[in-house]
Amino acid sequence: MGTFYLSTPIYYVNALPHIGHSYTTIVADAIARYRRLSGDKVFFLTGTDEHGQNILQTAEEKGISAQEQADDVVSHYYELWRDLGISHDDFVRTTEPRHHAGVADIVARIDAADDFYVGKHEGWYCPSCETFYTEKELGADKTCPDHGRPTEWKSEENIFFRLSKYQEPLLDWYRSSPGPVQPATRSNEVMRFVESGLRDLSVSRAGLPWGVPFPGHEGQTVYVWLDALTNYLSALGLGGAAGEAGLLEEYWLSGAGPRVHLVGKDILRFHAVYWPAFLLSAGLPLPTTVWAHGWWLRDQRKVSKSVGNIVQLEPLIDRFGSDPVRYFLLRDMVFGQDASFSDEAFVDRFNSDLANDLGNTVSRLVKLSRTAYDGKTPPEACGDNPIKSAAEEAVKGYREAMDGFAFHKALSHLWRLLSEVNQYLVAREPWKSIGAGNTDSSVSRVLWNGLEGVRIVATGLLPVMPQVAQEVLAAVGTTDVPSDLSALEWGRTPLSVPLPESPQLFPRVDKKVFFSTEPDSAAVAKQQKNVGEEEMTDEITIDKFFETQLKVGTVTAAAAIPKAKKLLKIAVDLGEDEDRQLVAGVAEHYDPEDLVGKQIVVVANLKPVKLMGVESRGMMLAGSADGRPILIHPDSAVPPGTPVK
Ligand code: MSP
Repeated sequence: MGTFYLSTPIYYVNALPHIGHSYTTIVADAIARYRRLSGDKVFFLTGTDEHGQNILQTAEEKGISAQEQADDVVSHYYELWRDLGISHDDFVRTTEPRHHAGVADIVARIDAADDFYVGKHEGWYCPSCETFYTEKELGADKTCPDHGRPTEWKSEENIFFRLSKYQEPLLDWYRSSPGPVQPATRSNEVMRFVESGLRDLSVSRAGLPWGVPFPGHEGQTVYVWLDALTNYLSALGLGGAAGEAGLLEEYWLSGAGPRVHLVGKDILRFHAVYWPAFLLSAGLPLPTTVWAHGWWLRDQRKVSKSVGNIVQLEPLIDRFGSDPVRYFLLRDMVFGQDASFSDEAFVDRFNSDLANDLGNTVSRLVKLSRTAYDGKTPPEACGDNPIKSAAEEAVKGYREAMDGFAFHKALSHLWRLLSEVNQYLVAREPWKSIGAGNTDSSVSRVLWNGLEGVRIVATGLLPVMPQVAQEVLAAVGTTDVPSDLSALEWGRTPLSVPLPESPQLFPRVDKKVFFSTEPDSAAVAKQQKNVGEEEMTDEITIDKFFETQLKVGTVTAAAAIPKAKKLLKIAVDLGEDEDRQLVAGVAEHYDPEDLVGKQIVVVANLKPVKLMGVESRGMMLAGSADGRPILIHPDSAVPPGTPVK
């Protein structure tokens, strides 16, 4: 059994948590649960970053103390993490004495390495990110390049850290294998930044009362990032009494297991440059991985308090429960890239993946099995069959994806298995036999295979939707919650055990009702009302329009279909795991080779059909000029899968 250390960033307490903070924490929780099920001994850490000018200022504006401000916000974090089912092992607050001890310890180590000196610090300072910028880094009117807010000129005597000394050791670290900074594109950015030359870093602030006093330098406070980054070790016991340092040795100093920091891309520099440099100076081991994820966007901009486009998850959790929210966030964001949040995207995902694919499959199988076998699971299992091989393939893909933090992919492997189960049922039509009173062994095997496929999907869902996964397992006859991933092996659905009546796991959401009643969606509701007033015409509501999913795709291959004069078979990259196959009636007007590489607009949620025996999973859009198709292309190249709205 190996150890696995995993951290989220610690969150500022000047504002309430939003989707961005919840996202990292949910990702970390899914990893922690997956690693525990894989047999690792996990230490999963999260917490709050409570010092600094920003928090002091927020508290002052409210007329409360900084500590009161921190206590208030932290209580919201506790509550939200509980509601989201976060299974952290520790929660560190930078105002705790144990953390102060950790900061004192790392400062002493860096001091012993002679890496501090006193100097004059001047520059443009953004209080929101607690960072100095050079003139050329600033935006228009000397605004912060990240927050867009005005910066202020500061000049003071500070303590400096000899960051420049660590330029080469850091570059060696980035180049070591496997690359510690992930994903690779981010690692390249960090390397370019370090190669361009590192300046020494000011690591204290003068006259800032809300922070850790800098040991040996009266009037100076430890720079909030040196303070905050140290949480990763203070929570393990750095600076604590020798007897308390067991965790530090086990999870960090021994260098035995992975030590993973999850961060958003905006704070990568602090984690991939400053933090490892502090550790190198302090003579402490480095993390094995710093993984930077992308941003949740709303209306094309990073969700953030300063932009004012906050998305809070509480209303969604209240309405749908935490697991669907966890599922959505892990399924809709390609880990490492940006993703857009919208209520519509959430409801669509809920209806299609959860209500339809998962919920309906479970209830269909349970109903059939209960009817055929007197309220029980089938009496006979099945050894070799197409679902078994589909399950083995799905499990392999799932495990590889989870090991590589590709959560969207892991989930799509599980959903492919669900779709195989459904296709299998449609092909075997067990309901016909059952309707005719036949419940022989062939029916038993078909239903058992289906239930077994769902059991495996639910087992794979344990890290992502811990509650729902258990409910699905119970619904398909497995009441003992698996304690490890050996439960992903084929063959464990018990025979002839009582099967409770299937619960309705995910009642389908009527989008019209949802968008006209949910307070968060006021704008959409208003829009619908206006449209509704004109219902006498043949106009449709925006809601109706959004039922059609339009996406931009890139044609990767095209070929004629033998004996079909008008049709072409086309493969399109829609940003999914596999290219989509479409059949389009354009052969008389377009040569296959003219299409390859072109971007087209595809109706992505059409029911598959077969044309001349070839499956078509979508339709490409074309203008129709006197019956001649004219393909629609985007104005400039966009990533495959970009929605058209
Ligand atoms: N306190 C520092 C981190 C110190 S770690 C030693 C901080 N706090 S924060 O509250 O502003 O942000 C914490 C995390 O939330 C960052 O990883 C950031 O990337 C993430 N997110 C904030 N907004 C986000 C989105 N809109 N989308 C995804 N994550 C983003 O920075």
